[in-house]
Amino acid sequence: MKENYDRRFCVAPMMGYTTPYARKLYRILSKKSFLFTEMIACKSLIYSKKKDLIIENDNHNPVALQVGGSDIEDLKKCSQIARDYNYDEINLNVGCPSKAVQKGSFGACLMKDKVLVRNCLESMQSSNIITTMKCRIGLGQKLNYDFFEEFIDEISKIEIKIIYIHARNAILNGFSPSQNRSVPKLDYSFVKRIRSKYPQINFVLNGGIDSLEMAYKLINEFDGVMLGRLIQNNPFILKKVDRLFYDTDYDISVNEEIISKYFDYINKKINKDSIYRLMSPLLQIFFGIPNSKNFKLKIHEHMQSGRVKVIRDLLLSFVEKNKLLLN
Ligand SMILES: Cc1cc2nc3c(=O)[nH]c(=O)nc-3n(C[C@H](O)[C@H](O)[C@H](O)COP(=O)(O)O)c2cc1C
Repeated sequence: MKENYDRRFCVAPMMGYTTPYARKLYRILSKKSFLFTEMIACKSLIYSKKKDLIIENDNHNPVALQVGGSDIEDLKKCSQIARDYNYDEINLNVGCPSKAVQKGSFGACLMKDKVLVRNCLESMQSSNIITTMKCRIGLGQKLNYDFFEEFIDEISKIEIKIIYIHARNAILNGFSPSQNRSVPKLDYSFVKRIRSKYPQINFVLNGGIDSLEMAYKLINEFDGVMLGRLIQNNPFILKKVDRLFYDTDYDISVNEEIISKYFDYINKKINKDSIYRLMSPLLQIFFGIPNSKNFKLKIHEHMQSGRVKVIRDLLLSFVEKNKLLLN
């Protein structure tokens, strides 16, 4: 088993976003950040004919495969798959509040059954891969530290080394997953308290970290930070992460080489996946850059007719013209 627990800076799992293509871009921009797949339901992982496309790991390491499920045997199989695809870690989703996920008996509703979660994690560990969990601090409107502590007490009975915590409760009724990312309010103190009780476990803080400056301050109080929406909106800030969080001595700048590397990768995927999924991570390059509307319009036009080479040339010329603003 690989024994490296450094999860100082993590990019959160995000369905529809942390695709293999996004992970490729993230890895070009940061050699060190710890990456996650989107949540993949166990049954899809085991039975989907498109498995190779969904969970491809083109040397995106260090990277975790996140699964959703609560069937002990299925989870065991998923761990084996994670190992076979050279993932560094398998992570159980105990935080998603969506109705569909509740129907499948996984995600945040599992916090109601702490013994089942412990059994799930234990079965995942049997494939000899680092096994972790991403959970909330509780369920419902009311904060209750005792509930959270008892939940972690149960999980700590197995040898778990890393727990990612989205530091707000999940509300299982009446709120959509996206509302559940802004209400109820965050409470980092729960994570601080539990961390002092279990110094042998690495607790990675997630939720509401909306700048690299904020992440950098929090890194001293937790074992790592995990960022979702900031990276979803502006993946290009990852170029600052290695120097800031890992003290490396190189600089990564947004230049033509980055665009070329990305296209070298996705060129092999054309006709296998939609052009929108292939291109969308890279198109975040326009985030915050003034006067980029014309480029965006042209690119969207060419996406409709699938003209990848023209899109590549447009992006190369955009980078050339905006190098100062992009770096
Ligand atoms: C579009 C989107 C999709 C998400 N999908 C997942 C997912 O598949 N698995 C998961 O554990 N969390 C998922 N999340 C939650 C994030 O991992 C994270 O916990 C949440 O966004 C809070 O972090 P942030 O405030 O840094 O965004 C998703 C969030 C977003 C915005």
